[in-house]
Amino acid sequence: MPCVRPLTCPICHQPLKKVEGSLRCNQNHVFDIAREGYVNLMTGHKRPKIQGDDKVMLAARRRFLGKGYYQPLSDAINEIVLAHFPGQNGVVLDIGCGEGHYLGQLRPHLPAGTCTFGLDFAKDAARLAAKRYPASRFVVSDVNGRIPFADQSIHIMLNIFAPRNPAEFARVAVPGGRLLIVIPGPNHLRQLREELDLLDIEAEKQPRIVAQMAGLFTLQETQSLTFELDLPQPDLTDLVKMTPNYWHMTPTKQAQLQAMPHFQTSAHFQILAFIKAKG
Ligand SMILES: C[S@@+](CC[C@H](N)C(=O)[O-])C[C@H]1O[C@@H](n2cnc3c(N)ncnc32)[C@H](O)[C@@H]1O
Ligand SMILES: [Zn+2]
Repeated sequence: MPCVRPLTCPICHQPLKKVEGSLRCNQNHVFDIAREGYVNLMTGHKRPKIQGDDKVMLAARRRFLGKGYYQPLSDAINEIVLAHFPGQNGVVLDIGCGEGHYLGQLRPHLPAGTCTFGLDFAKDAARLAAKRYPASRFVVSDVNGRIPFADQSIHIMLNIFAPRNPAEFARVAVPGGRLLIVIPGPNHLRQLREELDLLDIEAEKQPRIVAQMAGLFTLQETQSLTFELDLPQPDLTDLVKMTPNYWHMTPTKQAQLQAMPHFQTSAHFQILAFIKAKG
């Protein structure tokens, strides 16, 4: 049964407890646990119009990641997390978890008693994640608002190609808590981006993130990970479809992509490992 322990009510910020098929606070705000096991903690007027990644992107990402193309990244994340894991009763939160792939790959390596959570504001993402990874608890929430976790309750935070909220990350992290931010490196899919005029990758992303975290988290380690991808169809199309790129392409470019029998390109990721700064 996935954990509830550090979850808080999005309305009054009191702890949530599991009561039958729902989560409740002591002011009786009630949030139903969906059939698939996720919980929507987005409140009324705060529900954004855009609900994050849509079903087509999520399905493409699930197919692509399921074939193991980004396994070296998943292995590197697991290695860093395990090197810093607090032992029993640790709490892990994957922010912008999507369909749950990286948390799902990590979970079997963690000690029994660990609580693992994924947060995403796409309901479809939480639904897919909860169905496939029932050992973790998935919640629908917006990282740009107050995230529904107690102060100083999270030991390890993952943030993989997803938006960040440094002040909230710092609030929920335990003293000495770790934050792993993964971003695409400047050479990520370089050959494919040149071939198809895909979106640029921000050149100065790493220093910008380190500056955003200043005073809250200290950068301890960076890892640059590069490997080659040899992609047949339909995996090549899935790779583009799982990012916003596909939706920015002209119909001609989309047709060009689908007509390419296979393509070789490099994957390039940067893993930034932070520790919560002493306040
Ligand atoms: C590029 S995907 C990465 C998903 C996953 N980490 C992975 O690498 O497979 C970005 C994710 O962030 C989520 N997201 C975007 N804006 C968000 C927000 N404001 N709050 C919570 N999640 C958000 C999207 O729904 C999407 O699932
Ligand atoms: Zn409440």
